[in-house]
Amino acid sequence: MGEVAGLPAGVELRALAGRDDLAACLEVQQAVWGDDPRELVPPIVLEATLRAGGLLGGACDAAGRLLGFVYGMPAIREGRPAHWSHLMAVRPEARRLGLGLALKQWQRAHLQEQGIERAYWSYDPLLAGNAHLNLNLLGARVVEYVEEMYGGEVQGTAGSDRFIVEWMLAAPAGTAPPAPGEVVGLETAALPDVPRVGVAVPKDFSALAGGDPVLAGRWRAATRRAFTHYLDGGYRVAGFRRGDPPLYVLEAGV
Ligand SMILES: CC(C)(COP(=O)(O)OP(=O)(O)OC[C@H]1O[C@@H](n2cnc3c(N)ncnc32)[C@H](O)[C@@H]1OP(=O)(O)O)[C@@H](O)C(=O)NCCC(=O)NCCS
Repeated sequence: MGEVAGLPAGVELRALAGRDDLAACLEVQQAVWGDDPRELVPPIVLEATLRAGGLLGGACDAAGRLLGFVYGMPAIREGRPAHWSHLMAVRPEARRLGLGLALKQWQRAHLQEQGIERAYWSYDPLLAGNAHLNLNLLGARVVEYVEEMYGGEVQGTAGSDRFIVEWMLAAPAGTAPPAPGEVVGLETAALPDVPRVGVAVPKDFSALAGGDPVLAGRWRAATRRAFTHYLDGGYRVAGFRRGDPPLYVLEAGV
């Protein structure tokens, strides 16, 4: 897959390999997450993953500069071959141009060529933009909530709680679910026992976490409490609604 309709002129999607590409992946990670080596995947691990059947796709501009990439490894989930997509990163100055979506589409096409039917990854449920991309644009669904997946602070966003999503590669894009009757927010004390409930998240959690870590921690605690309460009680995440506030819709089990 080369140039893709809808992407900025000159942007090309291609498989990444070799020393220069892998070094460029590290540079993009540093531009996105900073220099803490504990949060970065170094070229030697990328190389090993490629030799083990992993997938690494990049979006490059007309001058050949890497703007973003998607990276994952072969996986087994519930006894079946799958793909674990560990990283996707787009340079801050190249965001909202459609590269993230195009990289996931590139990934899907290549996995399907290999006969893989499903991919998994984790993301921070407080990131509304990622929720929209994952659940609505791609049609992935939430299968698990993991508290402190990486054992504490990672990527500067109030701990490392994550949703695990499953992406059935043949599935169509998602649709936003109907509005819930009741919404649990930052200040909500009681968790209502209703068939369909909303769990609100901030509009821009990254900016909030950068400016007010205490408030970010309160959002983490409030949403962790709500997600674990409902998911442990048999609810499932039916989808995500952008809006004010952005919110997940959870439905009681059928
Ligand atoms: C997530 C990320 C890869 C998306 O890359 P991108 O090239 O900006 O994504 P796209 O331009 O294809 O955007 C696709 C959709 O994602 C949503 N989205 C992505 N980032 C968003 C943000 N910060 N705020 C709001 N919406 C966002 C939007 O709905 C967007 O569609 P729209 O522009 O039509 O509204 C990029 O923001 C990034 O590198 N973030 C930091 C690292 C990260 O979170 N990685 C993903 C872990 S799952």
